[in-house]
Amino acid sequence: MRRSLIMGNWKMNGSLQEGQQLASALAAGLGDVQQEVAVCVPFIYLSEISKVLAGSAIALGAQNVADQASGAYTGEISAAMLADIGIKYALVGHSERRSYYGDTDQSVANRFVQAIKQNVIPVLCVGETLAEREGNKTFQVIDEQLDTVIATAGIEAFSKAVIAYEPVWAIGTGKTASDEQAQEVHHYIRQRIAGVHPEIAEKLQILYGGSVKPDNAKALFAMPDIDGGLVGGASLDANGFLQICHSV
Ligand code: PGA
Repeated sequence: MRRSLIMGNWKMNGSLQEGQQLASALAAGLGDVQQEVAVCVPFIYLSEISKVLAGSAIALGAQNVADQASGAYTGEISAAMLADIGIKYALVGHSERRSYYGDTDQSVANRFVQAIKQNVIPVLCVGETLAEREGNKTFQVIDEQLDTVIATAGIEAFSKAVIAYEPVWAIGTGKTASDEQAQEVHHYIRQRIAGVHPEIAEKLQILYGGSVKPDNAKALFAMPDIDGGLVGGASLDANGFLQICHSV
């Protein structure tokens, strides 16, 4: 049985004080849960938020990680630095990084490798744009995004990774993929990994992201290949995010 994972992504929102309040409301309200819960917060707040979450079941993630190990890369944060302060997860290849900051399939694969080397769990984000979906290219795009990482990192690395399927057209738009649309792609991703390594595919957590809200989470999480969610906008509200965490 795969454990579910519900991950918040605060993106570039809020002040330190707001982040602390949100984290402490989550820690206080989560209660006993079987599923794993994490929040990806802005780099600069990771240390302070980790103090608030200490002793709670909520893990911390970064929203990105450098594609190099160390050195003259001004402005970057390495996987070793994240590991140094106890960060469990790092998003790699979020569609906002791919579309606004030039992340390519190869640079995403390199970030993935850096995270794996430092025992930070990479959360590999994949997904198609609206034009790609309408052009019947969804599976082709998923193949390209996955295959570059498999070729670079090796399939074994996926035993220590998470995948998030985030159709770009559903992120922050209020348009969620239907349960069936999401399940179809999740199943495809698991089959593709299974084609290389069936046991790793069976254990792999595949999260859905894109306008997950308290009122649609339950049905999404009930699908057989959806193992939780990557939640943006709705993770900024403590009650809403807690409701989503309890929808598993
Ligand atoms: P959203 O964002 O829930 O606001 O659509 C999801 C994400 O980008 O991770």
